Amino acid sequence: MKLTRTQRRALKLLKACCQWTDDPQEIMERAVDLIYASSKRYDWVGLYILEPDAEHLRLFEYYHGRPTPHVRIPVSEGVCGAAVRENTTLIVPDVTADPRYLACSLETRSEIVVPIRFRGKVVGEIDIDSDRPDAFNEGDRGFLEQIGKILAPYVAD
Ligand code: SME
Repeated sequence: MKLTRTQRRALKLLKACCQWTDDPQEIMERAVDLIYASSKRYDWVGLYILEPDAEHLRLFEYYHGRPTPHVRIPVSEGVCGAAVRENTTLIVPDVTADPRYLACSLETRSEIVVPIRFRGKVVGEIDIDSDRPDAFNEGDRGFLEQIGKILAPYVAD
C-alpha cells in the first residue's frame, strides 16, 4: 500500500523524534499529534496501553478529540478489546451497526483500532474515531501499523 506524502512525512518526523529523545511519554505524545495532524478524517486519536494483567486497556492521558468516558476498557469489551483478543487491526465502517462498539461520542460514525505489538505480543493500540461514515481504508491501516511498529518499544517500556 502506497502511503501519502503526509503519511510518509509523519513517519519520518516520528522517527526523528525517537532520535532526539528516548522518553516514552514524549514520543507517544508526538505520535498522537502527528497522527491527528495527518488527516481531517481523524476526529479522535488516542493510544490505549494494555495493563500488566493483560485484562484491561488504559487510555494514555494525552489524546486529541472530545473527552471520553472510556479511560479503562476490559479486554472483553468494545472494538478496542476485540482488537486485542483477535490480535488484528479492526476497521468499523459503521459503528451504529457493530454491537461491540462502545460509544465515546454521538458524532462518531466509524473507527479503526490498530494493535501495537512488541516481540509478538500486543502491548497497546492506536484508536481513531471519525465523524464520517466509512472513513478508514487500507492506506490508513498501512500507515498506522507502521506508526505502531515505531511506538512498540516505548509503549512496552
Ligand atoms: N469505541 C471504542 C471505545 C473507545 S472510544 O472510541 C475513544 C470501543 O468500542 O472499544
